[in-house]
Amino acid sequence: MHDFRDCVLWSTPWRGCCLGLQFAAPTASGSLLSWRLLRGEEDAPQMDSVPPLPPGYGFSGYEFVHWVISIMDRIWNLLYKALGLAFLVLGKAKHHAAGYGRARSFSSSDFERCIDYDVRVVDEWLDALEKYTCETQAQIVGRSVLELGPGADFGVPLYLLSKGVENYCAVDAYPLALEAPSELHDAMLERIGRIGTVVPISALRKALTGGQGDSQDATPMLRYVVKEDFDIAAACDPSSIDFVFSQAAFEHFDDVEAVIRQVGQVARSGARLIAGIDLQTHARWLRERDPLNIYRFSERTYKLLGFRSMPNRVPCSEYRRLLEKHGWKDVQIRNTVLAEDSYFERVRDSLEAPFRKDETRLLWFVVCATRS
Ligand SMILES: C[S@@+](CC[C@H](N)C(=O)[O-])C[C@H]1O[C@@H](n2cnc3c(N)ncnc32)[C@H](O)[C@@H]1O
Repeated sequence: MHDFRDCVLWSTPWRGCCLGLQFAAPTASGSLLSWRLLRGEEDAPQMDSVPPLPPGYGFSGYEFVHWVISIMDRIWNLLYKALGLAFLVLGKAKHHAAGYGRARSFSSSDFERCIDYDVRVVDEWLDALEKYTCETQAQIVGRSVLELGPGADFGVPLYLLSKGVENYCAVDAYPLALEAPSELHDAMLERIGRIGTVVPISALRKALTGGQGDSQDATPMLRYVVKEDFDIAAACDPSSIDFVFSQAAFEHFDDVEAVIRQVGQVARSGARLIAGIDLQTHARWLRERDPLNIYRFSERTYKLLGFRSMPNRVPCSEYRRLLEKHGWKDVQIRNTVLAEDSYFERVRDSLEAPFRKDETRLLWFVVCATRS
């Protein structure tokens, strides 16, 4: 429930409406709240300054505003639930017509943005790895990397290989990276040349050709495996991987437990897993306004209107449990991003019962773990 101070200071969308109502209904409510108080200006409202009504006058000013805010919140929540339903239906239709869409919110023809994104993703993984292991980033030199769900291009593997990774394998359910324009990869190689590389650019260029299927090399530097069934165990040799990285992909997997089990089979003892997981609503317009929208629906409705690869709503605690169950230890959750308090308080009661817990506030996290 809201505190009056919160109401006025926090509920910006409603403040204008409250003011209007407060003007329109002072007699009906019997409220003695002053205009100055409701504006929430420099002299921020004090609970003590809300005058209590004499007995028998019905609502107090506090109760009235509280009531208005709660009605407004209810309408807001209903509106966003309806919008969420519409987005689910549209998403399903779009998926049916065109399959899995773009991996990112921007186009692969925006080279600079794609490259900035890829560089940032790798830098953040390596930063998380460094902090998690208390070892330098040089620990990846000469090692094998597996990426799950690499998305729209080969910028990430090129950058990782330039840092001395011996071989990189990506597994995906959709061949998205094959659609990337070759000019994007040329631009990425140019950027890598400027940043600095421990591997000649010509070797990276060769790896790229191998990665896209033209190589005769038995152990290519870059391997891109697309398997609709996402069978990781079939894509990599057992106990062959030193580092498993993933970004904004786990939340799309059909069966998170099966993925964690298989990753455990292909990872060596001591291998590290670093995975960024995005728990928010993915529909772009909604995400900005109502990041927890997908948690408004029952399992039945969500499945009914769902389609493959929509966010699976697996919570953070489940990742910890599954990793520990399948042979990973020292599980740590880092770099968390939380929904704002005021937003969460406003939506909490309208989420489906299993999602009303505090954990649902988590919008993004990076999970780090070590193979036993
Ligand atoms: C949002 S994209 C993220 C891609 C990339 N890591 C990035 O940060 O841009 C999700 C990735 O997961 C893959 N993916 C989606 N649904 C999947 C599924 N059901 N099984 C396996 N991979 C899936 C997509 O092909 C894509 O590579």
